Amino acid sequence: MNMRRLCSLNELRDRGARGFELSLPDGTKASFIVVRDGDAVYVYHNRCPHTGINLEWQPDQFLDPDGAFLQCATHGALFRPEDGYCVRGPCAGDRLQAVPAAVIDGEVAIRA
Ligand code: FES
Repeated sequence: MNMRRLCSLNELRDRGARGFELSLPDGTKASFIVVRDGDAVYVYHNRCPHTGINLEWQPDQFLDPDGAFLQCATHGALFRPEDGYCVRGPCAGDRLQAVPAAVIDGEVAIRA
């Protein structure tokens, strides 16, 4: 697996989240959530651990109204941005699947 560029860090709002879709080498597509916290990023597969559906209804709408948690738009489950842990909802105690990510020379890249 190679590092794949997603975007520049400064294209992400601090404490904001954005969705990305990538074509993988096997021809399938995968959907990711990227959360920025200062100079750090957290990336997850855009897939709820309990049903496998995407978390958002609207493009890039991943955060709860307070901007504190990632939220499943269908069921309201809340996930910590820093580790994907579900603190409330049908999948409480589960986690979003993390994707290895790095910021290299101001560019956000993931291993995919
Ligand atoms: S699909 Fe799992 S909380 Fe909504």
